[in-house]
Amino acid sequence: MDMLVVRGGQPLRGSVEISGSKNAALPVMAAALAIDGPTTLHRIPQLADVQILTELLTRLGLSIQSLSACSLRMEVTDSAACIAGDDLVRKMRASICVLGPLLGRRGRACVSLPGGCQIGQRPIDLHLRGLTALGADITLERGYIIARADRLRGATISLAGAAGSTVTGTCNVMTAACFAKGRTTLTGAACEPEVIDLGNFLNQAGARISGLGTSVIEIDGVERLTSTEYTIIPDRIEAATYLIAAAITGGRLQLHHTCPEYLTSITDSLRRLGAAIHESAHGLTISAPAVIEPLEIATSPYPGLPTDVQAQFTALLSLARGTSRIVDRVFPDRFLHLPELCRMGCDVRRIADGCEIRGVPRLSGASVVATDLRAGAALLLAALAADGESVIRRIDHLDRGYENLEQKLARLGADIQRVPDDAAHLPASLQPRLDSGLSTTLPGPHWTTTPQAVSQKWPAGFERESA
Ligand code: EPZ
Repeated sequence: MDMLVVRGGQPLRGSVEISGSKNAALPVMAAALAIDGPTTLHRIPQLADVQILTELLTRLGLSIQSLSACSLRMEVTDSAACIAGDDLVRKMRASICVLGPLLGRRGRACVSLPGGCQIGQRPIDLHLRGLTALGADITLERGYIIARADRLRGATISLAGAAGSTVTGTCNVMTAACFAKGRTTLTGAACEPEVIDLGNFLNQAGARISGLGTSVIEIDGVERLTSTEYTIIPDRIEAATYLIAAAITGGRLQLHHTCPEYLTSITDSLRRLGAAIHESAHGLTISAPAVIEPLEIATSPYPGLPTDVQAQFTALLSLARGTSRIVDRVFPDRFLHLPELCRMGCDVRRIADGCEIRGVPRLSGASVVATDLRAGAALLLAALAADGESVIRRIDHLDRGYENLEQKLARLGADIQRVPDDAAHLPASLQPRLDSGLSTTLPGPHWTTTPQAVSQKWPAGFERESA
């Protein structure tokens, strides 16, 4: 197991290339199970999640050949395989995306229940309700989903849940519906760009899907889907993470290979807290604010602020000039990063359905542990801004969703190293000692008056150097 050692305080500057989207690549790779003939995919990111899905798809009869660092060629060589075992499905929840393609193309599937994870309850009732409405016979036996369907039939299906729609549920039902007899209408469908990307891939392979990007998607069934070549969209959550990295370190970055139209809720929030962001044909440029303004934000399904950037914004707003509040309406319990951020001097507390963050002028480096992918990103962002050294453990979570993370950050000026997770590599500054000299900086000083009454300048020494 490795860990990251970060020495904070370096403003990030330069340009970074955003990788292909993890959350688009995974359902598109799974959909290759339903394609007759070779599928060639480009801009597939080199991530732990992609490796796990590659292993699962190989077990399910797909031969997968690497054409380059980010291109794959996939072709079904054994269409009898239909068991997705819990050893892999439990490692990566998105493995559930094989259910729809297997049921649609092969008429049967045996997929382990994906289990929950640190960000909260992850039910699949909407997946199963949608596939049942298409005529599948689904039972749950000994921790597995056993699904059979001689012939799927088109239906009108609602995918709306209490917290909005389901992204991977829409992917599963939409893919299976490609093989249903007649028309399927999905209402309350997810509008996320990753669902649009899957639908575009399926249409390019011969599907007949309309309404992508809206909450009503219509699919007219076809007999088969055929060989195609497709390029995955850029990762909007990785892009958001780098935008926030520039803002929290007082830097200035240019992001290449982004879809600004998919980042509107994120760039709007960053502009509201004071960042300057410019869009060009080459991508996005962000300059950090001299002072971070507090915000009240809430996550929601697309086109709202993504839940996958909530933790990163929490880290950023821990340095705001005032009190901020963040509500996560998609995963209300997605706050395991808070105690770890507090170890770095963040002053945050849980409130009803979110958290309240009282801004402090600076954070201090500490030893922290990532609990999930985006929580790890939040801790890394805080470490990049903090005074002194930090150590981030369980970076296997980060390796699931950020390609070439420390290489990209180092090229932008970050002082970051991946080292073995052992005492020998723990920086001396973080070795606990009685006479540690580690100023146990309690959070603060806070603004004693409301931000409005505060002069435009922070007290001397608190002003952040301009970007
Ligand atoms: C996708 O997960 C993403 N993962 C998640 O990103 C993302 O956080 C999430 O969508 C929300 O945007 C992938 O795309 C691989 P959901 P998914 O089904 O599809 C409830 C990351 O960090 N729900 O859209 O599993 C559920 O409890 C990951 O990259 C039901 O009630 O999420 C949640 O409150 C983390 N019943 C809400 O819907 C269901 O059958 C959204 O869940 C399914 C979901």
